[in-house]
Amino acid sequence: MSKPRIFVPNRINEEVIQFLQQFGDVDYRAKEELISEEEFLDGLRKATALLCYSRQKINSKVLEQAPLLKIVSNIAVGYDNLDLEELTKRGIMATNTPGVLTETTADLTFSILMAAARRVTEADHYVKSGQWKEWFPSLMLGKDVYGATIGIIGMGRIGEAVARRAKGFDMEILYYNRSRKLDAEEKLGARYVSLEELLQKSDYVVVLIPLTAETQKFIGAKEIALMKKDAILVNASRGATIDEPALIQALQEKRIAGAALDVYEKEPVDPKNSLLKMANVVTLPHIGSATRETRAKMAMKAARNVVAAIKGEIPENLLNREVLQKIK
Ligand code: NAP
Ligand code: GLV
Repeated sequence: MSKPRIFVPNRINEEVIQFLQQFGDVDYRAKEELISEEEFLDGLRKATALLCYSRQKINSKVLEQAPLLKIVSNIAVGYDNLDLEELTKRGIMATNTPGVLTETTADLTFSILMAAARRVTEADHYVKSGQWKEWFPSLMLGKDVYGATIGIIGMGRIGEAVARRAKGFDMEILYYNRSRKLDAEEKLGARYVSLEELLQKSDYVVVLIPLTAETQKFIGAKEIALMKKDAILVNASRGATIDEPALIQALQEKRIAGAALDVYEKEPVDPKNSLLKMANVVTLPHIGSATRETRAKMAMKAARNVVAAIKGEIPENLLNREVLQKIK
């Protein structure tokens, strides 16, 4: 019987490749940038398993070119790039990498909140560009984080890890989620409120819900209008959970004080996007989980999911359980 073919179209840790080689023929392209569509589809045609990052869109058009595919293993916790229905229909498993990136992403989320509050990126640019000619009392005045109110939309793994950091800053913690999180209420003193109340009362609104059909533009003009005039909106989930034109308009009209963004509706963000021209907006290039340690753990977790599927086992992080009916 021929060995399963594992397609890895982008760079991942070398030890993960060595691990995978014990279980199949690994078709590895050690490139950082996306390979061409032609090269990708060519690799996919022969693949039993695919390990990919969330920038790779996996839809029916792509899957038509993947007659042998048994699993798509996303190296990310978010999986809005995968058409789960289509994968299930075709009997292909889909997996993600929850948990291992939680603390790292919470660190980054809290750091962009702090950066926006204390104007860190703006002040850094001010000094480096030679604009700092003298010190004066109102130089780069920011907004307190310690003791302020944080509102977390999406109290999941990362939301709760952000709440733990907020507790260390003595913040009042409000949250909105589709289900109550009694554990976070008990341990962290987080208070479950309606979305409206959260938006009205929070100094920092932090979006950490996954992007799904229901959460597209979850925060739009109506929601932003409820926020305090001196509040800051933080998004580390997916760009499309916020109505970006509505956010731009609110910032231009100074209806909120600023924003801190790791994600955008379109990535990489268009260099002409107005958000990039605003000093009160912190803009990072989707690097929530980007530490050496965490990326290694994500890649290994994704690889273990592939190996389980190859061995005929149920991968730990299977997203489409219904697929098991199809492949039994
Ligand atoms: P998670 O544990 O699944 O948390 C998501 C939370 O959102 C859950 O508590 C869920 O509620 C809630 N939720 C889902 N849909 C909702 C809705 N329609 N209304 C209200 N609440 C809703 O996921 P996670 O590990 O924290 O990750 C969250 C997201 O962060 C990922 O999906 C990804 O998009 C993003 N992320 C970004 C980066 C980055 O680099 N910036 C890194 C990692 C993750 P239930 O508990 O009731 O299901
Ligand atoms: C990164 O954005 C992830 O979803 O893991």
